[in-house]
Amino acid sequence: MTPSELAALHEAHASDPHAFWLEQARRLDWDRFPTLSGDWSYAADDFHIRWYEDGILNLSANCLDRHLATRADQTALIFEPDTPGTGHAVTYAELHAETCRFANLLKECGVGKGDRVVLYLPMIPEAAAAMLACARIGAVHSVVFGGFSPESLAGRIDDCGARVVITADEGLRGGKHIPLKANVDAACDLSQGVETVIVVTRTGADVPMHEGRDLRWEDHRERLSPDCPAEPMAAEDPLFILYTSGSTGKPKGVVHTTGGYAVWIATTFDWVFEPRGDDLFWCTADIGWVTGHSYTLYGPLLHGVPTVMFDGVPTHPDVSRLWETIDRLGVTILYTAPTAIRALMREGDAPVTAFSRQSLRLLGTVGEPINPEAWRWYHDVVGDGRLPIVDTWWQTETGGILMTPLPGATSMKPGSATAPLPGIAPLLVDAEGREITGNDVSGNLCLAASWPGQVRTVWGDHRRFIETYFTTYPGRYFTGDGCRRDADGDYWITGRVDDVINVSGHRVGTAEVESALVAHALVAEAAVVAAPHDLKGQGIHAFVTLIAGEEGSPGLVAELNAEVRKHIGALAIPERIQFAPGLPKTRSGKIMRRILRKIAEGQLDQLGDTSTLADPGVVDQLVRDR
Ligand code: WTA
Repeated sequence: MTPSELAALHEAHASDPHAFWLEQARRLDWDRFPTLSGDWSYAADDFHIRWYEDGILNLSANCLDRHLATRADQTALIFEPDTPGTGHAVTYAELHAETCRFANLLKECGVGKGDRVVLYLPMIPEAAAAMLACARIGAVHSVVFGGFSPESLAGRIDDCGARVVITADEGLRGGKHIPLKANVDAACDLSQGVETVIVVTRTGADVPMHEGRDLRWEDHRERLSPDCPAEPMAAEDPLFILYTSGSTGKPKGVVHTTGGYAVWIATTFDWVFEPRGDDLFWCTADIGWVTGHSYTLYGPLLHGVPTVMFDGVPTHPDVSRLWETIDRLGVTILYTAPTAIRALMREGDAPVTAFSRQSLRLLGTVGEPINPEAWRWYHDVVGDGRLPIVDTWWQTETGGILMTPLPGATSMKPGSATAPLPGIAPLLVDAEGREITGNDVSGNLCLAASWPGQVRTVWGDHRRFIETYFTTYPGRYFTGDGCRRDADGDYWITGRVDDVINVSGHRVGTAEVESALVAHALVAEAAVVAAPHDLKGQGIHAFVTLIAGEEGSPGLVAELNAEVRKHIGALAIPERIQFAPGLPKTRSGKIMRRILRKIAEGQLDQLGDTSTLADPGVVDQLVRDR
């Protein structure tokens, strides 16, 4: 984009937001084009968020059917499995047919408009077809990342009330087999509601099938019709639920609706990646996360850009995997996470420079702050100093990208997401909620105005939705992020200021980890904070107090790790468990996390005032044992 094109967009939004937002909606095919754009208020007594409310459309038709006339036989996605060179391409016609078959099977299982379907799948083409099939018949998909435990899976199934689960026999990543079907079986034992489990064959492992409940996809696929009409959906009908961790309690089911989400993804994909006819887009994110929804699947498909579905890891079979794959497939845009960049940077330049990477024209990052050192390596080595980098800041709740430099229009700064996209209104506030104006300032990041891709509610708990995002700073959406606005007015996200830890770009709630730890019979109390980690960005540091008379040991650490794996999943296992005789508390019994954070960060000279503690001695002990 040129600077004047960007200026024109900002100007168009400022002068007539209604016309601006309706204009963006023209990127989609609507059964009925909306006359309304945004209708929203963050005020407590009149809270509502609606976009394009009188519009009618279907997202699956927008991703598939509208391409059939012009590019039915072109590649829609490339399946790139764990073992290089064993993948294949899927055309629009094939993906359309597979989606329709899935949709017809779901219908046979009694799934209709508004029903929830849980997906627990590897990154296989059937996963894309299953998501699109839900969208096609108006069912609400909720994808659960394959790294979550059966207990987490069951919690999500119960929370959204899904009666159908789609899974695979096993996953295969980094050479390791992941027992997806066995995990679903275990989840079904914990959850009462599942009536049907559809099992796709990935590895061919011999998995037990439950008579009357489990269906093998391959047993039905052939007989199912490759045609299924797309259900006309109201713009505000829910499209998907994605569970994400917050500061309190169990994960929240973030709800996105059809019209606004689709407009925002189509718009941001266009502005940020400026798709061209010869593009091959590779977003490495798993569909279990929002990045996988928005930019592995929906964004590219909406634009008719072939997308890579990567079912492997960047270090398998060796640390050249990404670069080898880019050359072999001819990838033009790579969109990945800082944690992957840091891990590969550690391996030196040779594994990168052994491959040409000539097909690349743009690099992107997402998911966590990128440290300037990693940014420079990405730019200088991966990009040969010739490729722009889009450092895109956004969240599960925002649906799509909100802040990023735009190649050609914004000058890049290593580590800064720089500036909001047109229509996005960031502001910084202090602890009391007063807006911090001017430049060269820091504060908590809020958004003053709604945008089409904004989360609409927390599934089943609208009050929690309003409390979580709109009451800390009344009248504003609070992101949970801290942020600096530099002297030029550019934004630098500094990380979460709430009790969310960003481990390798994955959100983990401290409260969830704490409750997993205290589930162990010997644990009296646990407090979990973030500690800086070279590769993961942040690691989990757990302070654990045992019941009287018990002592910590390596064996107990292993048991506690197993507890976290069982209740949440391996991704939430603490980097460090520190046994503590006591936790620093105020006289009213509140744990002083601020002090624990400083201890975990090793900033021992910045513990601050400890005189208000009920027992200041515990801090000395924690520092000694660190
Ligand atoms: C962090 C992922 C700095 C941030 C799309 C946010 C970032 C959280 C960036 C959301 C970035 C994401 N720079 N921080 N470019 N992108 N974050 O919901 O703390 O998994 O609040 O969505 O990741 O994580 P989520």
